[in-house]
Amino acid sequence: MRILVLGGGGREHAIVKALARSPQSPELFCAPGNPGIALDAGCLPDLDPCDVDAVVEAAREHAIDLVAVGPEAPLVAGVVDGLREAGISAFGPSRGAARLEGSKTFAKEAMQEAGIPTAAYTVVRNREQALDGLSRASYPTVLKADGLAAGKGVLICKNEAEAREAVEIFFTEQRFGRTEVVLEDFLEGEELSLLALCDGERAVPLAPAQDYKRIGDGDEGPNTGGMGSYSPVATISDDRLAELSALVHQPIVDLMKRRDTPFHGVLYAGLMMTSDGPKVLEYNTRFGDPETQAVLPRLETDLVELFAKACVTGGLIDCEVEFSEDWAVTVVLASAGYPESSSKGDVITGLEEAARSAEVVHAGTAEVDGKIVTAGGRVLNLTGLGPDPASARRCAYDAAAAVKFEGRQMRNDIAEREVRRAGQDPLPARTAQP
Ligand code: AMP
Ligand code: GLY
Repeated sequence: MRILVLGGGGREHAIVKALARSPQSPELFCAPGNPGIALDAGCLPDLDPCDVDAVVEAAREHAIDLVAVGPEAPLVAGVVDGLREAGISAFGPSRGAARLEGSKTFAKEAMQEAGIPTAAYTVVRNREQALDGLSRASYPTVLKADGLAAGKGVLICKNEAEAREAVEIFFTEQRFGRTEVVLEDFLEGEELSLLALCDGERAVPLAPAQDYKRIGDGDEGPNTGGMGSYSPVATISDDRLAELSALVHQPIVDLMKRRDTPFHGVLYAGLMMTSDGPKVLEYNTRFGDPETQAVLPRLETDLVELFAKACVTGGLIDCEVEFSEDWAVTVVLASAGYPESSSKGDVITGLEEAARSAEVVHAGTAEVDGKIVTAGGRVLNLTGLGPDPASARRCAYDAAAAVKFEGRQMRNDIAEREVRRAGQDPLPARTAQP
């Protein structure tokens, strides 16, 4: 089995590592990959995952049996459609099904049609409609650009003055291009990431995870791509997981089948657990980053088999997805300046020592003169595993303490909530700063 993973961040490194654990011992490729992935797979650094023709050609050249797509951009660009037309199996949704992530208005309309609980909303198409909407909104309120915006297109506004500024960002500055905007009610509660594997007909939930979006401890500061995660989530029992998946995944899979754009791949529901019940904030049509880094190390079922089955309509029937009882805690190390900017070229040390206590996943690194250096906002993800939240967390933070580079940033409170829930020592983990 020869598998090509598309992407080059922490999520893709975690996917490559999980595939490498398969008893089928697949031959692994990754495009473009990164220096960490290069230790586990053959990298194709010059292949652009969004260049559909080039991906098809590379898959043929390397006799690839299955392509697994990591990020959203190649899905929206139609890479899965191109591969399937060429007769190559691809794990991920078609361009039509990926609209669930690629367009917020499409997703909201789909949720409404499928009867899925979500925040009340209106769609505004220009500045006048938006200002009119604001005068009737309650605050805080939320404005979202319609298209892909790498997590930056959501603005939460405390009052009407802030919301008016947001309207100028969307419609005058056009920071996210010419776009429709979803104006929606602000929801409060704990967030939960629920991923499911889908085969066009049914959704099979994966272990629940929690991610941390803000840069600072205690959820302070600006949103990021994700500063940490953990899995499982103590409040979500297996029965509750099945119930939630039936509420937020299966109706979407049914709807997409009815519409003749069947959903294959990973459907990610970002939920807010409000006092009024769970509500869907968004759908993503791919693995979450950094949730994947905490979920896949716990997976006991062969991921190669799961990917292959999800590509076939109805392939996941009677499929059991098993997870270990272990906890996994992922700490993200980010570079100086993140999320506003990021620093490149800072030398990273301590990776070998870190690997003694955690799974070390490369997110934004490069190799220069034989040294591993920073090359992006989120640089490394360290996943500790253990029989309880405290020990998993300690492994992740012990690894984090070993890794040093200029301006390193991390959160110190990842999974602290679960440690407290488990009645374990809530003291901060040892986190020696470089
Ligand atoms: P999204 O890309 O839609 O998931 O939004 C990114 C983040 O913004 C979410 O993970 C939430 O933390 C926050 N968010 C989005 N929509 C809402 C909402 N309606 N109420 C409160 N927070 C929200
Ligand atoms: N962790 C959130 C995302 O992958 O979009």
